Amino acid sequence: MEKITLGPVPYMSVMPTLLVGANVKGKANYMTAAWATVACMAPPMVCVALNKARYTVKGIEENKTFSLNIPSTGQVVEADHCGLVSGAQEDKSEGFASFYGKLKSAPMAKECPVNIECRLFKSVDCGSHLLYIGEVAEIHADKACVTDGKPDVVKIRPIVYAQTTYFDVGKQVEKAFSVGKKYSKK
Ligand SMILES: Cc1cc2nc3c(=O)[nH]c(=O)nc-3n(C[C@H](O)[C@H](O)[C@H](O)COP(=O)(O)O)c2cc1C
Repeated sequence: MEKITLGPVPYMSVMPTLLVGANVKGKANYMTAAWATVACMAPPMVCVALNKARYTVKGIEENKTFSLNIPSTGQVVEADHCGLVSGAQEDKSEGFASFYGKLKSAPMAKECPVNIECRLFKSVDCGSHLLYIGEVAEIHADKACVTDGKPDVVKIRPIVYAQTTYFDVGKQVEKAFSVGKKYSKK
């Protein structure tokens, strides 16, 4: 297959749509973020890249805590709104019913089926963006979205982000760590 070059852009095929929760000056703020993933197994860590201009950055620096909230496809309007408007311009605390967990200072949105409560482990200054690595203090999940003690992607219906568009999760293709056993050298 012929390859063409597309330039050095920060591309990733698909990303999650998350709401980063942080208390700024004692008030909850939620911002949309897609540049996020798992960072470590033991201790459990996740990470998210935030532009230095985000209002949310002030809150994470202030409290050294934050949350990653996973909205469902039914919350796509609310999720996109948090990415269109800054907490510096509008009070976004009213958009969700906030609750607090172990860390006391990381606001979490009750309406989101899963909330990842994080204590700041480290921030890496990458240039335009700060990569915030958070140690997971607790996972809060709606009981109805859990199967065998684990968050269930079919029940959660997370919003997939790609090409400035929101998608639903597609059909299962195969089982990971399993289908590869069928591999045979040609
Ligand atoms: C789908 C989507 C994904 C986004 N992902 C990020 C991201 O990963 N990092 C970031 O810094 N901004 C991201 N943004 C932009 C911020 O959400 C936006 O600037 C927001 O208004 C910042 O809110 P704040 O100023 O209250 O923190 C995203 C926006 C949208 C709509």
